Amino acid sequence: MKLSLRIWRQKDRNAPGRFVTYPVDGVMPEMSFLEMLDVLNEDLQTRGEEPVAFEHDCREGICGSCGFLIDGVPHGPRRHTTVCQLHMRFFKDGDALTLEPWRARAFPLVRDLVVDRSAFDRIIQAGGYITAPTGSAPDANAILVPKEAADTAFDAAACIGCGACVASCPNAAAMLFTAAKVAHLNSLPQGQPERDERTLNMVAAMGREVFGTCSNHGECEAVCPKGIPLEFIAALNRDVIRAAFRRRREPLHVLGAPHHPAHEDVRESNSAQKESST
Ligand code: SF4
Ligand code: FES
Repeated sequence: MKLSLRIWRQKDRNAPGRFVTYPVDGVMPEMSFLEMLDVLNEDLQTRGEEPVAFEHDCREGICGSCGFLIDGVPHGPRRHTTVCQLHMRFFKDGDALTLEPWRARAFPLVRDLVVDRSAFDRIIQAGGYITAPTGSAPDANAILVPKEAADTAFDAAACIGCGACVASCPNAAAMLFTAAKVAHLNSLPQGQPERDERTLNMVAAMGREVFGTCSNHGECEAVCPKGIPLEFIAALNRDVIRAAFRRRREPLHVLGAPHHPAHEDVRESNSAQKESST
């Protein structure tokens, strides 16, 4: 099978980028999309040219490293399929494909098809933990988990943090990712002690990054390779309102407001005020 690939080439985020077209020959139907790019890169290196940079690790759809736009669609044309699991049998001989990196301000370009998704890490750091004692594995029935809660947590935990939801959203919002990460721990009994704190802090962390505001387009759900549903966004909105009522913290500007006071900052400034008044 022969293909023509029009690929975005850019040395780093400050260099100008452009599309370069490459013919690829000898593509076999059983190859994955990334293996097809390996063939191209071997050819480029043989000719003394720079290989195309793309991110990958597990190549089995679980790590979230891979991902770019194929003809404008994150991870390409197959639903619920990461680009590393996308096989060439779904393409035809002579296809011309355009490959480009995620386009979102919160994901600055590193090189070619690779972007920096550390904004996601900062959202996780803001609340993706529990304070239950760790150590040796507890008895399986020490904390009873209702089946429905376990199923919800499991579905939410399927999010691999690939960033396709942001790349597909017309607002470049990170709501589906954040909602999945919040729902994962908020669904479980072990996640209840920090539930409000987690919800407010992860949403505040999302607001500090340069993601846009969710306006319920649903593009995120349509391209998510793990089928994370929009219901998690609705659940996040409910959790935010409930947490805000419980904490009575004002003002609560959570989405699309990069300069709002984060909840950690509110706490810090409150304690600073106390100190200065004593
Ligand atoms: S919600 Fe889906 S598209 Fe978004 S980061 Fe998680 S797995 Fe990727
Ligand atoms: S390389 Fe791990 S999900 Fe694709």
